[in-house]
Amino acid sequence: MNCLQDKKSLTILAIESSCDETACAVVRDGRTVLSNVIATQIEIHRRFGGVVPEIASRNHTLAIENVVREALERANVTKDDIDAVAVTYGAGLVGALLVGVNFAKGLAYAWNKPLFAISHVKGHIAANYIDSTLTPPYLCLLASGGHTAIVNVEDYEKVSFIAGSRDDAAGEAFDKVARVLGLPYPGGPEIQKKARDGKVVYDMPVPKFGKSDDLYFSYSGLKTFVINLVHKMEQKGEELPACDIAASFQAAAVSQLADTLSLVCERTGVKKVAIAGGVSANEELRRRASELASRGVEVHYPKLTYCTDNAAMIGAAAYFVIKSGAEASGLDVDAKATVPLK
Ligand code: KG4
Ligand code: ZN
Repeated sequence: MNCLQDKKSLTILAIESSCDETACAVVRDGRTVLSNVIATQIEIHRRFGGVVPEIASRNHTLAIENVVREALERANVTKDDIDAVAVTYGAGLVGALLVGVNFAKGLAYAWNKPLFAISHVKGHIAANYIDSTLTPPYLCLLASGGHTAIVNVEDYEKVSFIAGSRDDAAGEAFDKVARVLGLPYPGGPEIQKKARDGKVVYDMPVPKFGKSDDLYFSYSGLKTFVINLVHKMEQKGEELPACDIAASFQAAAVSQLADTLSLVCERTGVKKVAIAGGVSANEELRRRASELASRGVEVHYPKLTYCTDNAAMIGAAAYFVIKSGAEASGLDVDAKATVPLK
């Protein structure tokens, strides 16, 4: 039980700083975004080919005050309109998370508001509630830079694990393959762009499942396949057909996600699915997931702005945490590099 559970309308200020985006949003009743401010550090990390944790933390420190101020201004609200402060406490880079967590603690203490520590993964799932009428139960395919999984969202706060990656995450594979193709970080959007001008000419490895096999994801074999293909071409002095490699990789990476989701739908008989996480922005994944509709499955996707890291999804998740009656977090809440998928 918490003091807000029965309140008619809830306005939540949410902060997210788990990786390279400093973000703050004001969200009403889990589904309406009043403001969504994101200061991205992509340009800063690009020269290193990926996120440098120490640099990310320092830049969060520089950005966070203005990002929070702007989120309040854009939402046209003051601290008096805010019912609770929410913050991502994990999973993510601990030093980066600590900036958001400590700022949120300071706000909650100074404003005398309850603080709710929210899991980043739950936030990605909750991105599907924004501007939508989606309600549980449904299956969620989560694919980001750090996670690849299918979970059963039995209720807003009851999530059970069905299948996950044995090695790399899907987004991580996009980023690594982009790197060997000489494309900038983050690789997902770059691969997608190249793939538009390419053809699927390489048959790339994906796990195959028999009728009663346990389901899982695996991206390291696919990644190694592309690395070897590129190295062989480079050794022979051949020009890299980057667009065809990108199209073939994307098709394989996405078919693994879409085919496994389809199998889980078949096995469980569930007729409602959502996709979430940075890779859910991928146009090929959205196209492949939408094919499930022909089998009578209702398919939900977050809007593109809410696929990659943002704070609106944290505010949406916090609303459902509060409504479930969870206690507010104490001011001793700590940042966590990993958080169980529950
Ligand atoms: O959810 P997210 O912003 O951060 C994590 O929680 O990891 O996901 C970032 C990941 C990166 O690996 C990025 O390359 C990938 O999502 N991504 C995409 C696309 N947009 C972002 N992957 C494929 N296609 C995209 N359009
Ligand atoms: Zn994320």
